[in-house]
Amino acid sequence: MAASTNRQILLVETPKGKLGPEHFRLAEAPVPTPGDGEVLLRVRLISLDAANRAWMQGATYREAVTAGTVMAGGAIAEVVESKAPGFSAGDLVFAETGWQDYAALLGKRLVKVPKIEPMTRLLSVYGIAGLTAYFGLLNIANPKAGETVVVSAAAGSVGSIVGQIAKIKGCRAVGIAGGQAKCDWLVKDLGFDAAVDYKSGSLFKALKEAAPKGIDVYFDNVGGDILEACLFQMNNGGRVACCGAISAYDGAAPPAGPRGVPGLIVVKRLTLKGFIVTDFFAEREKAMADLVSWVGAGKLKVEEDVIDGLESTPRALIGLLAGENRGKRMVRVT
Ligand SMILES: NC(=O)c1ccc[n+]([C@@H]2O[C@H](COP(=O)([O-])OP(=O)(O)OC[C@H]3O[C@@H](n4cnc5c(N)ncnc54)[C@H](OP(=O)(O)O)[C@@H]3O)[C@@H](O)[C@H]2O)c1
Repeated sequence: MAASTNRQILLVETPKGKLGPEHFRLAEAPVPTPGDGEVLLRVRLISLDAANRAWMQGATYREAVTAGTVMAGGAIAEVVESKAPGFSAGDLVFAETGWQDYAALLGKRLVKVPKIEPMTRLLSVYGIAGLTAYFGLLNIANPKAGETVVVSAAAGSVGSIVGQIAKIKGCRAVGIAGGQAKCDWLVKDLGFDAAVDYKSGSLFKALKEAAPKGIDVYFDNVGGDILEACLFQMNNGGRVACCGAISAYDGAAPPAGPRGVPGLIVVKRLTLKGFIVTDFFAEREKAMADLVSWVGAGKLKVEEDVIDGLESTPRALIGLLAGENRGKRMVRVT
């Protein structure tokens, strides 16, 4: 049974600089009524993604999020009422519901997901984060046993899985993360070979020590200075999987750069390739089978950071951009 009120988090203003709580407002609206072909969804878990902030900067692989609308975001949601073929009350789906309690969406925009426990896994290792790590590393960068794989935002949802898959594939895994505590966790708990704190001292020098044979694969989640430091240490024939550019998402326009482009790309015969996880959805079954088996065998550890309450969503995103999270951050709505 749906409640009569739908709480919604609105983006009231597009941020010019850093994202803050003042850019959001909690509002109430009636629970929507599904039309023909639509499904009424009750939002259970909202995915917090660095990309939420990038969408405020303009159109990307999706349209921009504009001021005065419900903040966009993906979620695991439960079907309350269905007027679309193939969906019944109680089904779980992944959908772009936005930050609200209820949404009415066309059935064709929903992806049915299995009922697994804990449900949070549907947003972490078996959700976009796990699949992005899997396809970005294996399909884009193609690491070989014995090679050195470096990943930035390594303690985050995608990065923490990238390093572990690199280990599973017999590579040396090096993480770049903010703070000693995150670096210790990557090495001691997740089995990375080394981790570098980009917030302390010289990243370039620390990276050279952590990757003494140079970098064969760099999985780039951040862009900017960290990409530059890695480019200079890439081995000939190295591959860079361009996954995201979080250093440029939250604040004023970044300075030009990185240096070394295109010179280093030419001289070192590098390949830099961007991707969006959905490019590989046709291969999702195989990826999922691998992820399930690695988790089951204890080779892939899952870290989740679950925050309660729809009203907490703005501060959860602001905190993610500031590096508060370890592993996949999400908000439990109900
Ligand atoms: N291509 C795709 O299909 C796809 C799909 C999903 C996600 N992504 C990308 O994957 C990346 C990770 O996103 P996520 O949503 O999973 O977030 P996340 O990695 O769980 O969290 C973001 C982390 O980024 C780090 N960070 C923030 N600002 C930084 C900076 N200026 N320099 C270096 N590190 C910084 C913070 O950790 P520290 O404490 O270490 O700073 C923070 O915890 C993003 O670039 C996102 O756009 C791409």
